[in-house]
Amino acid sequence: MARIVITEFMDERAVDALRAKHDVLYDPKLVDDPHRMMGEAAAADVFIVRNRTQVRGELLAALARCKAVGRLGVGLDNIDVPACEKRGMKVIPATGANALSVAEYVIATAMLLLRGAYQSTDDVVAGKWPRNALSSGREIGGKTLGLVGFGSIGQLTAKLAQGMGMQVIAHDAMMPADHSAFANAKVRPVSLDALTQGSDVISLHVPLLDSTRNLFNAARIAAMKPRAVLINSARGGVVDEAALAAALKSGHLGGAALDVFDAEPVPAGGGFAGCPNLVLTPHIAGVSAESNERVSSLIAQKILEELA
Ligand SMILES: NC(=O)c1ccc[n+]([C@@H]2O[C@H](COP(=O)([O-])OP(=O)(O)OC[C@H]3O[C@@H](n4cnc5c(N)ncnc54)[C@H](O)[C@@H]3O)[C@@H](O)[C@H]2O)c1
Repeated sequence: MARIVITEFMDERAVDALRAKHDVLYDPKLVDDPHRMMGEAAAADVFIVRNRTQVRGELLAALARCKAVGRLGVGLDNIDVPACEKRGMKVIPATGANALSVAEYVIATAMLLLRGAYQSTDDVVAGKWPRNALSSGREIGGKTLGLVGFGSIGQLTAKLAQGMGMQVIAHDAMMPADHSAFANAKVRPVSLDALTQGSDVISLHVPLLDSTRNLFNAARIAAMKPRAVLINSARGGVVDEAALAAALKSGHLGGAALDVFDAEPVPAGGGFAGCPNLVLTPHIAGVSAESNERVSSLIAQKILEELA
């Protein structure tokens, strides 16, 4: 029987599946008590985390007998993967299990931001009737969506966008233009510059790496089409937040949605105050009732296989 320590929230049914065969500590608040987490780490054969637990440095050193780290999600920037592998620890992500939640987030925010008409409830309740002001919102059908990163989430987003009548173009630094994924999805591969200049909506689906840090800096944001919309559900650090806020305030960009940030939580009183047509969400694009079940059951199943 192995000792499994789970430091952040996991679907209860998946936790029960692990409990049926192993000794499980499930404490979704453990991540907020680093001292206790270090103590529990020492006895763990398996460690299961979401994105807040930083599996590196002292915590990694404390995981003395750990054989596997389960990641309830896909981004691995909170885990020092090379160091884990060097210590013989397998890192197991929930690849693909939250892709639909993220893809739906992209389509929903793109529609909301292009149309710009869904935040009139207070005015209408107050007896105002801002019909003229809200009559020039834009449709999503016929617009061009540019996907930066064409992995599992990028490909699923393309499919949903095509269903809404969008043209989809994509840029992926690791996939040659003749990669079958582009032809299968009927998506045109383009350079990052062509994508930047030719898209009405740009959505980011790359991991945070040295090559993607600040990819959407002030110069690239300035090269976007006037009134275009930028959506970042990938990782904070890929977009220059100050440059984005300035482009919204100047009216160059037509809107933006950010689910991920340089610092999470976002410090109060930062530069986003007063930005028009901006949607900010607390890193929930990939988290829905259904995806939580899928992600949790996939990780439980993979960990049970690993321990069999
Ligand atoms: N907000 C959320 O809740 C949430 C949920 C899930 C995933 N994510 C983020 O979304 C990212 C994408 O997820 P995925 O499952 O599609 O990953 P994936 O690994 O399937 O795809 C990522 C793609 O990015 C490409 N890429 C790498 N560097 C690039 C670069 N410099 N330029 C262009 N493309 C590049 C890779 O070749 C790959 O095809 C994850 O890394 C994660 O950080 C966020």
